[in-house]
Amino acid sequence: MQIVTSIAEMRRLTRDYARRGLTVGFVPTMGALHAGHLSLVARSRRECDITIASIFVNPLQFAANEDYARYPRTFHDDSRQLESAGVTALFAPSADEMYPAGSNGNPENFLVQPGPLGSRLDGASRPGHFTGVATVVAKLFHIVAPTRAYFGQKDAAQVAVLRRMVRDLNFDVELVACPIIREADGLAMSSRNRYLSPAERRDALVLHRAIGNAAMLYMMGESSADALIAAAQTEFALTPAARIDYITLVDPDTLLPLKQAAPGALFAVAAYLGNTRLIDNWLIGQEL
Ligand code: PAF
Repeated sequence: MQIVTSIAEMRRLTRDYARRGLTVGFVPTMGALHAGHLSLVARSRRECDITIASIFVNPLQFAANEDYARYPRTFHDDSRQLESAGVTALFAPSADEMYPAGSNGNPENFLVQPGPLGSRLDGASRPGHFTGVATVVAKLFHIVAPTRAYFGQKDAAQVAVLRRMVRDLNFDVELVACPIIREADGLAMSSRNRYLSPAERRDALVLHRAIGNAAMLYMMGESSADALIAAAQTEFALTPAARIDYITLVDPDTLLPLKQAAPGALFAVAAYLGNTRLIDNWLIGQEL
């Protein structure tokens, strides 16, 4: 596996793949890899000739009060895992390489603004987050020029924002959302799980249990959003250490609330365990 840190070198490689008529699958990450990321790599390898991964902890998508400085950086371990997973090239630029004019707080920066979609769901609790995500992913798409790009469905709002960006800004890339990968006890895999203390790790199961409650009610024939949300809230009432950020039923494309559940709707939960914010969701009709 080739490790590439400069944009010029990455472009040279992607131009070479294009000349040779190879399809390129791209798995953008912020490192701290887990089995969820590796499932994206595996899917890309099944569907594309070449798989490129990136590791870049993007300062632009963290607010000043968020965890940019302490976000886990495990490059050595990550690159080893990507290599054994069969990645052809790993793009790992520095913040200066990606943002030569500085990242945060430079009013001169040109940004990709997602519009109202960027202020819904996680965007409501993390103002500016999806501007940072859309901007860096747009840059990465230009640098890597992938045929397909792979994202985890756990970040359902991110998937909605990026799908819309690809559509509205005519990116020539197919965005592929891949199923949530869970720990054996149901916790959705996330790089942030490693922040959890043992007690918080136990309490974190409340997200999956809350969604499970709502899912069970739905299978029993209930489709009112209020009833499903109330069922999820009941589970949180039993875990007072977890603080709900949102529990909602939304359209997966517009992220606007729905009154009635139906296949394809997105039931989504976000909660704080101590200082750690975790998210989870269920696309109704799919396996939980
Ligand atoms: O999902 C992530 O890890 C990040 O938001 C992404 C897509 C790599 C952009 O920084």
